[in-house]
Amino acid sequence: MSNAKANIAVLVSGGGTNLQALIDAEKSGVLKSGTIRLVISNKKGAYALERAEKAGIEAFALTRKSCGGQEGFEKRLTEEIESRGIDLIIMAGFMSILSEDFTRHFDHKIINIHPSLIPSFCGKGFYGLLVHEAALAKGVKVTGATVHYVNEIPDGGEIIMQKAVEVKDGDTPETLQRRVMEEAEWIILPASAEKICAGILAGRA
Ligand code: GRF
Repeated sequence: MSNAKANIAVLVSGGGTNLQALIDAEKSGVLKSGTIRLVISNKKGAYALERAEKAGIEAFALTRKSCGGQEGFEKRLTEEIESRGIDLIIMAGFMSILSEDFTRHFDHKIINIHPSLIPSFCGKGFYGLLVHEAALAKGVKVTGATVHYVNEIPDGGEIIMQKAVEVKDGDTPETLQRRVMEEAEWIILPASAEKICAGILAGRA
């Protein structure tokens, strides 16, 4: 950890709108106790990598293929994270399952944003648009997003923060996803990062 701030690594796979929310929050001062030091994508060419580069943040793709499989991938990921003294790992639109060994090694140091109010519409098979399709199929009137610690159970770790979002008549999975991102994800992920990083700094005081 640098003197003033906790060091954050963000894991991404796709468009990176949640990463962008973190970058913007650091610029605006909403996220002031932590700084994003590293962005790693498990997918080559992810637009999230471009967002990081534009913001001057070290960013690269690390694929299972290039690491010779899951074990090599997690070994490299661990090395990249530990060599930079990362205090908090944020999974932001990261579509890759991490092993129990990995999550236990980084116990209470990894958080994830899930686009529903856990325990609804979460766990194996619930990711991206599928979450919103399930919410619409069920006919819920309220959905939202959840930030939680990551453990060996998909979306199973302790809940840190949630924010509710209204489902509107005529919503499609796409319009609902957009509203959940804008009104919930992009607010509670930076807020959760700040809360945890402030706690890390306080704990080191
Ligand atoms: C978002 O729906 C997010 O909730 C989920 O992945 C989707 C894309 O996230 N985790 P991003 O735009 O890549 O941050």
